Amino acid sequence: MTFDLLIQNATLPDGRKGMDIACAGGRIKAVERGITGDAARVIEAEGRLVSPPFVDSHFHMDATLSLGLPRMNESGTLLEGIALWGELKPLLTHEAVMERALRYCDLAVSQGLLAIRTHVDICDDRLLAVEALLEVKNRIAPYIDLQLVAFPQDGFYRSPNAEKNLLRALDMGVDIVGGIPPFERTMADGAKSVAALCEIAAERGLMVDMHCDETDDPMSRHIETLACETQRLGLQGRVAGSHLTSMHSMDNYYVSKLLPLIAEAGVAAIANPLINITIQGRHDTYPKRRGQTRVPEMRSQGINVAFGHDCVMDPWYSLGNADMLEVASMGLHVAHMTSREAMRYVFDCVTANPARIMGLEGYGLEVGCKADMVLLQAADTIEAIRLKARRLAVVKSGRVISETPAQVATLSLEGRPETVDPADYTPAGS
Ligand code: FE2
Repeated sequence: MTFDLLIQNATLPDGRKGMDIACAGGRIKAVERGITGDAARVIEAEGRLVSPPFVDSHFHMDATLSLGLPRMNESGTLLEGIALWGELKPLLTHEAVMERALRYCDLAVSQGLLAIRTHVDICDDRLLAVEALLEVKNRIAPYIDLQLVAFPQDGFYRSPNAEKNLLRALDMGVDIVGGIPPFERTMADGAKSVAALCEIAAERGLMVDMHCDETDDPMSRHIETLACETQRLGLQGRVAGSHLTSMHSMDNYYVSKLLPLIAEAGVAAIANPLINITIQGRHDTYPKRRGQTRVPEMRSQGINVAFGHDCVMDPWYSLGNADMLEVASMGLHVAHMTSREAMRYVFDCVTANPARIMGLEGYGLEVGCKADMVLLQAADTIEAIRLKARRLAVVKSGRVISETPAQVATLSLEGRPETVDPADYTPAGS
């Protein structure tokens, strides 16, 4: 048989070693040991990890790479970031938004990040960012699955035209209904916005993804309303709550009631570790709260949890590099998820789990899945996180679309059992 691509001797995220992956016609045709046949391109993985692509289920592509425009966020706080974005918005042009977004997409491809859900602010009456990102979505479709969320950054009720603009954005082709209940004027307005936005999604058959409870206030409980509305309107499996940082500060008894409600409603959770750890806890002295939502506890209730990047070089966050392994690493540390088993799960938080939230068709490394994958310079998923491993090859539709030379000196455990004593190995290349 003739294949477009044959990857030999790979380790898979589930731990299987010595696996070959054969691709043809944009799909995976075989995943087994010792595949024979001709291939237009053969890659010898040398026992390294091959993973499905990274997936970022929470991002703001309309703001990315705008760092310093029109000025820096001097305090580093969420509220100054929102104010700064308000100053930048009238200055945005279609061309500038597209240019920055496409530049980010180039970087994302090189990082093996091939699916992104981005929120797009709909509070500017021109809907200029919506138009620009819809164009970007079409342009990059051969490389990246891009989903757009209609996001009323200044509040669905608090911003005068947000309701009208959100509907316009959905009419233009934006995929998902967003919201920001903690930014409405009152808790009651926030809860009302959650109900109204879920009704819009139910009427139009759309998914929902809301910035819920991005605050340190333990009384910010819009995720409870979101779970309730999901049940009421039959939206199970189509709804995600993003951030959920207030849960970090909530009373434990209340959380013991809340988590089963979220699980029952099939609502997924998206934490944004890099942003949560820097934006939350800003009013604390010591001890300072971390602000990240309760990831292990949600996991143990069967709630699907993903980690998002949220921001890269924008009014809220000066750092970032489209590296979902950096996101995973921060989430792992903040949540104390350092057991071997938990670290493997964290890799899923930037791959399989967000893929389920986005409803990506054909995602994975099974026969019949899309031939999209990443070869990493790492022995396994834990090492990939530890090293923020290089993406040696990024494959889309069975074609290599990005390659990076291997790093010569690493602390890789490649070829060694993963239980090796860390004091007993020689760094590769030394
Ligand atoms: Fe966000």
